[in-house]
Amino acid sequence: MSVRTTKFHEMKRAGEPIPCITAYDYPTAKLADAAGIPLILVGDSLGNVVLGYDSTTDVTMDDMVRHTQAVVRGARKALIVADMPFMSYQVNSDEAVRNAGRLVQEAGAHAVKLEGGAAVAETVARITSAGIPVLGHLGLTPQSVNQLGGYRVQGRTLPQAQRLLDDAAKLEAAGAFGIVLESVPGLLAQVVTDGLQIPTIGIGAGIGCDGQIQVLHDVLGLSNRIPKHAKQYADLNKIIEQAITAYAGDVRGRKFPTDEHSTEIDVAVMRELQSGASLDH
Ligand code: KIV
Repeated sequence: MSVRTTKFHEMKRAGEPIPCITAYDYPTAKLADAAGIPLILVGDSLGNVVLGYDSTTDVTMDDMVRHTQAVVRGARKALIVADMPFMSYQVNSDEAVRNAGRLVQEAGAHAVKLEGGAAVAETVARITSAGIPVLGHLGLTPQSVNQLGGYRVQGRTLPQAQRLLDDAAKLEAAGAFGIVLESVPGLLAQVVTDGLQIPTIGIGAGIGCDGQIQVLHDVLGLSNRIPKHAKQYADLNKIIEQAITAYAGDVRGRKFPTDEHSTEIDVAVMRELQSGASLDH
């Protein structure tokens, strides 16, 4: 890691936008790092886009540890933030500190992210006091999807907007180094951003946030459904399907492998083999 959490405060102060992305494995972490992304999130969106679960609530600590380890091996410069999965921090703050510690010590993450505002502020304070930087997450918090009544924009009503502002202030006071704002009206996200010393990282929260984060699979065109807030920069679903179809066609048509992909054997060895002689020397 060469990027530290203080870098994001400096970027906010300098008005320099912070581009962040998710990654879940070694090769894509390596590519995101090479592209100069300063913060890579091993998101629990892993459950949806890599593991094929319906919801992030199925993701376990073991899933997060294994995938974070792979990302850490791939990225040398970026700050790696690992998501704390559902029920790894909600039961009590002792368990939360233990699980955050596991993501740092066992998986190699530099920081952790957890969802929620006032309700988790004490937990955020405990984790940061243990020396582990915490990224907050407000707005649409997918681990609470059943309580929120679906994946919908948050903060549209006055009480919701006021609660968001209050939650953001509480996370900052608890020591969070930044806050992800997911699916929040752009003007509200701008007000939250202006009221904080720490940076906001938006996803579906407009241009007024200090940084932006996207799910890698949406950006690459690897998701089944691209959300409204995402911009697709490549169509890897199509490219990969075409490549696999071409490969299968070559195998069926006996066009692969060719000599170019095969290994030779000494003609004398073959002659001896075919004459039935022993190959023991
Ligand atoms: O899990 C995830 O990918 C996230 C981002 C959407 C911020 O939390």
